Order: sequence, then C-alpha cells, then structure tokens
Amino acid sequence: MAVGNTTRWVASAVADQQLSAIKQMAMLSAEVPDVASLAWGLPSFATPEHIRQAVIDALRSDRDIGKYALPNGLPELREQVAKVHRAKTGVEVDPTDNVLVTAGNMEGLSCLLRTIVEPGDEIIVTDPGFASHIQQIRFSGGVPVFWPLEESQGWRLSVERLPALISPRTKAVILVTPANPTGTIFAREDLLRAAEIIKERNILLFLDDPYSSFIYEKEDDHCDLASHTGLSDQLVYLFTFSKCHAMSGWRMAYMVLPNWLREQVLKVHDATMICAPRISQIAGLAALTGDQSHVEQFRQILSVRRDLIFQRLDRVRHVFEYVEPQGAYYVFPKILVDHNNAFDFSLRLLNEAKVAVTPGSAFGAQGENHVRLAFCVEEDQINLAFDRIEEIYPS
Ligand SMILES: Cc1ncc(COP(=O)(O)O)c(C=O)c1O
Repeated sequence: MAVGNTTRWVASAVADQQLSAIKQMAMLSAEVPDVASLAWGLPSFATPEHIRQAVIDALRSDRDIGKYALPNGLPELREQVAKVHRAKTGVEVDPTDNVLVTAGNMEGLSCLLRTIVEPGDEIIVTDPGFASHIQQIRFSGGVPVFWPLEESQGWRLSVERLPALISPRTKAVILVTPANPTGTIFAREDLLRAAEIIKERNILLFLDDPYSSFIYEKEDDHCDLASHTGLSDQLVYLFTFSKCHAMSGWRMAYMVLPNWLREQVLKVHDATMICAPRISQIAGLAALTGDQSHVEQFRQILSVRRDLIFQRLDRVRHVFEYVEPQGAYYVFPKILVDHNNAFDFSLRLLNEAKVAVTPGSAFGAQGENHVRLAFCVEEDQINLAFDRIEEIYPS
C-alpha cells in the first residue's frame, strides 16, 4: 500500500490547503527558545476562579459529570443561554427550538457550513477575515467569496460592494465585529444596510462573536445584528466563551438560530461530536450565571495593552503603518520595510529577532504585506517583541 502518497489518499480539499498560518507560526515559534510571541490570539488570562470552582464541585458531587449530554446541550445551560440572549438583544428565543451548545464557535461554524454547502456553493467573507473561516468553507466543498474591506477608510465594511458579490450560488455571509484580524468595529449604518441586502436577497447571515465584550472606543457604534428581529429566520448568532471568559481550552460555545436550521445542524453536530463536553457545559453555566466582573477586568487590561502597542508602533513608523483597532485585541499594520511578502517577513522576524507574528496573507489577498499582532499577551512580551523589532530595524 502506498502509504504517504498524498495524491492517492488525501482528499484534494485537504491536501490543497495549508495548516492555518496562525497555528503554523505558533508551532514554528514554539521551537524558538525565548521567543516573544504576538502571533496567537490566546489571552494571558486564567479561567476565573468561580468557574473552576463550579467544575470542582460538579466533579465531586455529580455522578453524571463524565457522561455524554444530549446533543443540543444541558437543558439548564440552554435555559440560561435563552435568558442571556434575551437580555443582550431583546430577542425572545426558545431554549429547545433555538439554542445549540457546541464545542467552540469553530465546531459550530464547521457544522453550519457542512449543513448548508453543496459543492461549489459560495460563502461571503470579509477580506481580510478570519483565516479559519476560509479553510472551513473550502473543507466543506464551498467557495469563499471575498468582500474587501477599505483600508484607507479604517478597514470599513464596503457595503456598496455587497450586492455584486451575491450570486445564485451564495448561501451565507459570515461577519465578525469587532473583527479579526483588524479589530474594526463595523459602522452601524453599514451593518444595517448589509442586513437589508441579506434579507432582500434571502441568504443567511452567520455572526461569529468572540470579541463583542472587548470594545475600547466608539462603543455606541457597535451594532449587534443579533438584535435585528427582521432577520431572525436567516440569522445564526454564534457566541464563544473562549475569550471573554478565558475558556479557550474548554471548547465551549453556543449558537442561537431558527428552528428549521437547528434541526438540520443538530444532525451534523451529533455525528461530529455527539455533544459539547459535559464538563465544559458546567463551566459554561457557571460563566453565564456567576459574577461577570472578570469580563470588564479583562477589557481594562486589554485596553492598557492596546495603548502600549500603539506607543510601541508609533516608535517604529518606518517599519509599520497601522489603523487603530477599536475592539478585539489585534492590530493589523502594513509592512513598510523591504520584504518579499508577509510570510517571508514574518519568518525573518522569527529567525532573526525571535519575534512571532502572523503573516497577513493568511487572512485574504488584502492581508498581503501586513502582519497581525495580538496584544492579548502580557505587557513585557509586547515590550520585548518591539525592543527586538527596533534592534533589527533601527530608525
Ligand atoms: C473570529 C473567530 N472565530 C472563532 C474563533 C475561535 O472560537 P472558539 O474558540 O469558540 O472555537 C476565533 C479565535 O480566535 C476567532 O477569532
């Protein structure tokens, strides 16, 4: 048997793709001792104590803790999700008909895409946009259609371009605001106009929401399309506990969606995962019902780190030019110094300066000649990274 023969054994949808550049960089940088890493959007925070305690208690007292849960999630968690969603958006949802608990938004989106995509169907994503969305669309047999953001207008969502991107094969648009990798909060009027177009053209909207707790300015501009009742039959809102509750390793998220779609996605989720880990659902319930003060604490710490990275970027204006992000914890500067492409530049930084960043090309064609810097790491990591950048690119 020709083991190792990729062409013979591996599906082209997989063989033709690279491991995401974010993880490639994370793995390459793990080989470099004493690296200063701004590559991975993995916040430095620990899961809050009361969430851990709830799990410790459940491990002690709940004989069922090690068992499967029902595929759609623990009833008490879904009840709480419905309450929180109502409080956040004003939209009434039913814990049984409209809520599906998943093992992270990545699993949720993957199930959604596999539910709706026939080979060749199109899914619209922003360019730049989250690299894993692009991969998931391709793995599911779909075609990503890129919706360029306007860098010259602060990475604005160019809503006027949307109608021309929609074809008879378009199934959905995926949006993230605040965005990854640019940290942009898309303008309310652009989002509302996009919602109108999506409604008129009768396609789906997937709102992937890891970052709406991390907004540092223009808070009033943030528009949560999940509260747009006119779209409710076409909208899937995906909330992840990973970032705002520092629970990335628990793999815990939920989606709120119309029942007709939930019934279909549930089949895919069940065949993929059976259920989100029960133990993580206990943690998720504690995160939703317990003290929320850590969310604001994280936001404040990230806000200080954001100011620091701006100060440091301002000292290397000959290396990078950047648009200030209003949310999330990424900045996406353009590379001004001589380089072949973003990947080579990132490799040079890693090998010569021991600084890990993510090449912007991973996030779409418009990301070429940019890098993504994640400022969710400790301040001394940010300082070390920029001290080293200043050393190899003296002004
Ligand atoms: C836009 C976006 N979606 C999803 C995720 C991952 O979410 P989860 O940990 O819930 O799978 C991330 C993580 O960086 C992200 O930036």
